[in-house]
Amino acid sequence: MKRMTRGARMPNLMVSLTGIVIVKGTSYVNRNQVNGEELYGTLLSENIIGVVHDHYVNFYLDMDIDGIDDSFVNVHLQREYTNGKSPRKSYMKVNKEVAKTEKEAQIKLSLYNPSEFHVVNPNKKTKVGNPVGHKVVPAGTAASLLDPEDPPQKRSAFTNNQFWVTQYNKSEQ
Ligand SMILES: *[C@@H]1O[C@H](CO)[C@@H](O)[C@H](O)[C@H]1NC(C)=O
Repeated sequence: MKRMTRGARMPNLMVSLTGIVIVKGTSYVNRNQVNGEELYGTLLSENIIGVVHDHYVNFYLDMDIDGIDDSFVNVHLQREYTNGKSPRKSYMKVNKEVAKTEKEAQIKLSLYNPSEFHVVNPNKKTKVGNPVGHKVVPAGTAASLLDPEDPPQKRSAFTNNQFWVTQYNKSEQ
């Protein structure tokens, strides 16, 4: 990665799809003929069903933040309780966990057990003493619904987690 000026923002990425939708033929020319049958898709036009399917957009990021000695930090957001010491019931706390193994850096996203994901260089500090770094902001609407033992899921096992952080190894790209 090109070295960036401190405080500069990494660009946001946008991905779009073009081409032909995954379709299958049908005798139906209107929804009113369907009569409750499961189509596994949407009648897009006469005799054409757009089939339910999924897309996975995968990015390989080689992060060098002011050097190669970077750490992956799971910034775990947690609920705390006041236990009757206040009219408020709960508040939030941040627990920063530096991944020590590649296993700890395999992460499934969860809105109800949320985290931010930072890649930092602990040896380089900002003016106020925080490690320099970037926040990686993943996006997604669903994880794979296939059975883990289903052949296509085994073949695309990279979708088993939303984050995989590994030590740099050119032969493992
Ligand atoms: C890099 O990956 C290859 C293939 O998995 C492995 O044989 C090698 O030991 C790795 N090198 C280092 C420095 O970890």
